[in-house]
Amino acid sequence: MSTHISAKPGEIAERVLLPGDPLRAKFIAETFLEDVQCYTSVRNMLGFTGNYKGKTVSVQGTGMGAPSISIYVNELIQFYGARRLIRVGTCGSVDPELRLKDIVIAQAAATDSGMSRSRLGQYGISFPAIASFNLIKDAVTAANHLDYPVRICTTFSSDQFYDDLAEQKYELLLRYGIPCVEMECAELFTLGSRFDVETLGILTVSDMINDEKACSAEEREKAFTKMMQIALDAI
Ligand code: HPA
Repeated sequence: MSTHISAKPGEIAERVLLPGDPLRAKFIAETFLEDVQCYTSVRNMLGFTGNYKGKTVSVQGTGMGAPSISIYVNELIQFYGARRLIRVGTCGSVDPELRLKDIVIAQAAATDSGMSRSRLGQYGISFPAIASFNLIKDAVTAANHLDYPVRICTTFSSDQFYDDLAEQKYELLLRYGIPCVEMECAELFTLGSRFDVETLGILTVSDMINDEKACSAEEREKAFTKMMQIALDAI
């Protein structure tokens, strides 16, 4: 077992889906996987392994923000041998053309994260957090087969959900072609580069930041199901 995951070696698959919410991990496992086993419940951050169309797949809750996802992804890769990791989560949209329930394939992530700065920022280097080309390709192929439209774009992984300067920052980000904001992709992609494993983010728009519109619980559920199908077929 690692510090935050109580699985035994071999209990976690090389292919891992990463929802932020541990109860969503349970939902994915119970809805889509067969022969499911819960391998960890340390801090209630649930993780499950099961079978999906002949592939062994794990689903691990990560919590919110870069420090939290970093702990789980580090341990998944370094202790349990995870090789293909897809974050499945929500994002806010700052672009009027990216609407509620739309699905985003995050090919890269800008960030203001202190974690990123603490690695290479001291040398004046801003690290390009990019998803793996193979997983982008596989996710686009899966979405096309399912006939679900997706937008491939860059996300902003923010350290702050409640940000006093959100309006100014988001307007500037949109000018540079970044239409959505969440909190975890940049750290996941950075660890993918660090440990030479494949990573991707697939996101569903859950709130329009400037409109203050948000999905109902039911709308969320349906949109999330599409995102999960893409992720499971791609991984
Ligand atoms: N901000 C940051 N993270 C998010 C948001 C948001 O508006 N929506 C979903 N994740």
